[in-house]
Amino acid sequence: MNVLQILCHPDFDNKNRVSNILTLTGETELRKKGFNNIKTLNLYSPDCYIPVMDKHMFNYENKKLTPKEQKDCIRQKELLTQWKNTDIIFIYMPLHNFNIVSKFKDYIDNIVIVNETFECEIETLIGLDNPDKKIIFILTSGGEFDSHIQYINLDFTVDYLRGILGVMGINHMQLLRVQGLDLEKNNKEKIIETAKMDLTKIIKETL
Ligand SMILES: Cc1cc2nc3c(=O)[nH]c(=O)nc-3n(C[C@H](O)[C@H](O)[C@H](O)COP(=O)(O)O)c2cc1C
Repeated sequence: MNVLQILCHPDFDNKNRVSNILTLTGETELRKKGFNNIKTLNLYSPDCYIPVMDKHMFNYENKKLTPKEQKDCIRQKELLTQWKNTDIIFIYMPLHNFNIVSKFKDYIDNIVIVNETFECEIETLIGLDNPDKKIIFILTSGGEFDSHIQYINLDFTVDYLRGILGVMGINHMQLLRVQGLDLEKNNKEKIIETAKMDLTKIIKETL
């Protein structure tokens, strides 16, 4: 089984960030369970190059590519192949400004590609990805989404990801919400410890 961890925290090397703390728990539990083929993309690390959807990306189909376009095109194929060949994907993300972080959108732009992960029929999109691929989405947030009315109305991050996975034909996404981290009434450490236990349970019982 191939596992991919996608780390989405802009503060990519800060071990105290909640999503980075949970990545450590996740990887430790995976290795305990015998998963050894684990790859990591730390999206905000300078070592992790993700082509951006810009003028150049629209040029990929042309016969003559600039050196930058050639480099980006190769990298896109690499990311796409890695995604396609992965059985289990963990996405560790903080919620920033009520949306997925922008580098993750850049990543999505490299894998949601017509005739690769989905195809277009006249009035519908058909997913070409492995429907059994397992996605575990660990989303940390300062606010709470099941109680605060302003938050409930802005709760489309999870729907977006679920929707875009559905376009590719992946029907199941497991969500671990680690929420209320910045609320004074809450005990942050306790929320993190509970999240570690929940993540361990997901790995032990569902993978
Ligand atoms: C720039 C920025 C934007 C944020 N936007 C939101 C938000 O829209 N909704 C929310 O619930 N929390 C928001 N937060 C709080 C983070 O989601 C929360 O602090 C994080 O998930 C956990 O903390 P850590 O990443 O510092 O470890 C934001 C934090 C920052 C720094």
